[in-house]
Amino acid sequence: METISISKSILLFLIAIQLGCQLISSSVTYDGKAIVINGRRRILISGSIHYPRSTPEMWEDIIMKAKEGGLDVIETYVFWNVHEPSPGNYNFEGRYNLVRFLKTVQKAGLYAHLRMGPYVCAEWNFGGFPVWLKYVPGISFRTDNEPFKRAMKGFTEKIVNLLMYENLFEPQGGPIILSQIENEYGALDKKYGAAGYNYMTWAAEMAVGLRTGVPWTMCKQDDAPDPIINTCNGFYCDAFKPNKPYKPTLWTEAWTGWFTEFGGAVHKRPVQDLAFAVARFIQKGGSFVNYYMYHGGTNFGRSAGGPFITTSYDYDAPLDEYGLIRQPKYGHMTELHKAIKRCEPALVSGDPTVFSLGAHQQAHVFYSEFGHCAAFLSNYNTANATRVMFNKMHHTLPPWSISILPDCSNIIFNTAKIGVQSTRMSMIPDNSQMLSWESYSEDLTTSVEDSTFTSFGLLDQVNVTRDASDYLWYITSVDVGPSESFLHGGEHPKLLVQSTGHALHVYINGQLAGSAFGTRESRRIKYKNTIKLRSGRNKIALLSVAMGLSNIGGHYESWETGILGPVVLYGLDQGKRDLTHAKWSYQVGLKGEAMDVVSTNGMSSVEWVQGSLIAQNNQPLTWHKAYFNQPNGNEPLALDMHSMRKGQVWVNGQSIGRYWTAYATGDCQRCHYSGNYRPTKCQVGCGRPTQRWYHVPRSWLKPTGNILVLFEELGGDPTRISLAKRSMTRVCADMFEYRPNNKDWLTESYGKTQVIHRPKIHIQCNPGLLISSIKFASFGTPFGTCGNFQRGSCHAPSSYGVVSKRCIGKESCAITISNSNFGQDPCPNTLKRLTVEAVCAPTSRG
Ligand SMILES: *[C@@H]1O[C@H](CO)[C@@H](O)[C@H](O)[C@H]1NC(C)=O
Ligand SMILES: *[C@@H]1O[C@H](CO)[C@@H](O)[C@H](O)[C@H]1NC(C)=O
Repeated sequence: METISISKSILLFLIAIQLGCQLISSSVTYDGKAIVINGRRRILISGSIHYPRSTPEMWEDIIMKAKEGGLDVIETYVFWNVHEPSPGNYNFEGRYNLVRFLKTVQKAGLYAHLRMGPYVCAEWNFGGFPVWLKYVPGISFRTDNEPFKRAMKGFTEKIVNLLMYENLFEPQGGPIILSQIENEYGALDKKYGAAGYNYMTWAAEMAVGLRTGVPWTMCKQDDAPDPIINTCNGFYCDAFKPNKPYKPTLWTEAWTGWFTEFGGAVHKRPVQDLAFAVARFIQKGGSFVNYYMYHGGTNFGRSAGGPFITTSYDYDAPLDEYGLIRQPKYGHMTELHKAIKRCEPALVSGDPTVFSLGAHQQAHVFYSEFGHCAAFLSNYNTANATRVMFNKMHHTLPPWSISILPDCSNIIFNTAKIGVQSTRMSMIPDNSQMLSWESYSEDLTTSVEDSTFTSFGLLDQVNVTRDASDYLWYITSVDVGPSESFLHGGEHPKLLVQSTGHALHVYINGQLAGSAFGTRESRRIKYKNTIKLRSGRNKIALLSVAMGLSNIGGHYESWETGILGPVVLYGLDQGKRDLTHAKWSYQVGLKGEAMDVVSTNGMSSVEWVQGSLIAQNNQPLTWHKAYFNQPNGNEPLALDMHSMRKGQVWVNGQSIGRYWTAYATGDCQRCHYSGNYRPTKCQVGCGRPTQRWYHVPRSWLKPTGNILVLFEELGGDPTRISLAKRSMTRVCADMFEYRPNNKDWLTESYGKTQVIHRPKIHIQCNPGLLISSIKFASFGTPFGTCGNFQRGSCHAPSSYGVVSKRCIGKESCAITISNSNFGQDPCPNTLKRLTVEAVCAPTSRG
């Protein structure tokens, strides 16, 4: 008995140890150096992928590409407005299936950082808040306000409970290692004074009280209370320090590019600068970097924030809007991640020792107690390369760059030297046609009869629509006496309409008289023009169009939208007539919306007219529909909308988003990777439509008989709408030769090399495509960038022949860069490179 009970207690003791170990082995904590998972400090590379900005069918592919790109963590916000469309009614289906998204992350073997907000900003409609929240009595957003705090707590608990139930937090065996409460509140906090501080500390306590078992973060919140970790967002974060020495240095938004607004140019961020920014952060002791965005995706439906955020949320991210790999951004960052990971044992061991190597050059060196040594050699000079001496060796550092030496002696990566191929993606028109166009005109006369209500004076648009539609009609009438002098040869009257946004169409007696548009900077718009009135009753109908509700700014929930006046008629015999306080009729939304003409059922409830009749007239306020078959292949698809002007488009009842052929203004002249980045620095697309192509997910299509419906506000030619396939059409590779007395060649390599071997270029087309021709090939001293390479003074005449023979007709090819491969040395004693631009084209088998 005695012995048994002893062994029993030993057994219990062992079980207890086992349990203890388990507790330790599945925990997430942190210290002053890093996030600690299972007792181990980690350098973590993370990327933002927002689940509603792609389809569930795309998630696995995107997440696997992120993993192959060297990511450990996937970050997403949680979007309250899609999950709780009306109070207490929840939606976690389809693109909103957060649990499925997180399980896909888990299946890929990655971690998750869940930024619950629930304020998310994110260029998302109303910053992620449901619009109904604004109408909760007594509410005031993001401050010490009971109704707001009650609602915020309710939603946060709802999400935490859901994810706990699904065992998705790391201590439960799930992927979530970090959560964020609130979002970039620091600046407002200071502005709101005590109320701001009280709210912020309440939010922190509320979050910690949910006992998720993983640490919480607050970004851009210098005074985040313990145990919450304050983190940095920005283009560079190497100057950032957390507010306590026992908190790790985390970068929750490393901006890979910038968002686009209609009428603006598209922003690009050079990968050399992004890599430099990340390396700067890591060398200063940072241990977590999240790319915002790693995959930006699409603002489907009316989810774009605003106003005027485009439907594309591409963000110049390593994975493009369509989920395709963007090179060289993806590959160069992948090589950086590998280089950082090779330094991890030294990086997590302690703070760096910093040595000066010159006026603008430094070495950051990390040592571990086990003898690891890793070094980052930086050159901050924006114009000049510099030769530095480190660890008894000479190294050349290009301007604005960092070289990484995981063993303190060999450079395996330099942020400014791209060793991966570049690709160029194009939208290739597909020859499948849009069939049997039909149109349906928003009938203005009957619309008026259906007016929902009348009121004296002008009302705030969102208060009337509750954002159920972008559209609100403001309709009034003006009686004109037969004796008015403008009817007898005098000057016609002018109408002034002032609106708080976002777009305005003016209809006089059923005819479009003109339009006015705001901008993101100035939401105020003013229409002032001569109008044609007639004797008797005239109908003035103003269509106000919302283009995404504001997602940022102090108490943006109180900002008004729509026509708030004054509305004044000038030039009548009596002088001016102020219509601001007249009797106005209001109609929420369009007739086609009320009839749900985008759905299969609703479509048959209106009279459609054969296309050619209406299309010729370029009619405004018109619905159009057509059928199309799914193009073959598996390339992502997009609608080319350049023949249309402004509206919304649906495929099989799913909203593709708002379209607007607004032309981009801005400066697209200058771009150099070196020097501090800002979004206006490297713009493209000036003078062209800001957005021409609109992503149509393949999973929304059937093989045949797909229905396209669009609503056009201004008029256009729908018969010229077509589908395009996004494919990689060009591949470029560019690399230096090896020279025995020049160790720098390693920096040009893929960064995998430890044993010396001769560098090779690799050219790879996407699956299903073959190298059909070589547009450029030069072994010598070529220069330029992918798409416009040129021969230099040194060029091996055999270059083109050698490359063509190796590559044409193949999906991929590799060529070793050596003189013997090109017959003879075209210019002895000159450092040469091999540069190739290849064309990829579909295979034409059978
Ligand atoms: C780069 O070098 C040139 C030539 O030596 C010099 O004139 C220039 O000032 C340098 N630029 C910087 C930013 O150091
Ligand atoms: C919304 O409209 C109602 C009814 O017209 C009005 O009483 C209320 O003050 C409005 N609220 C806001 C926030 O504009």
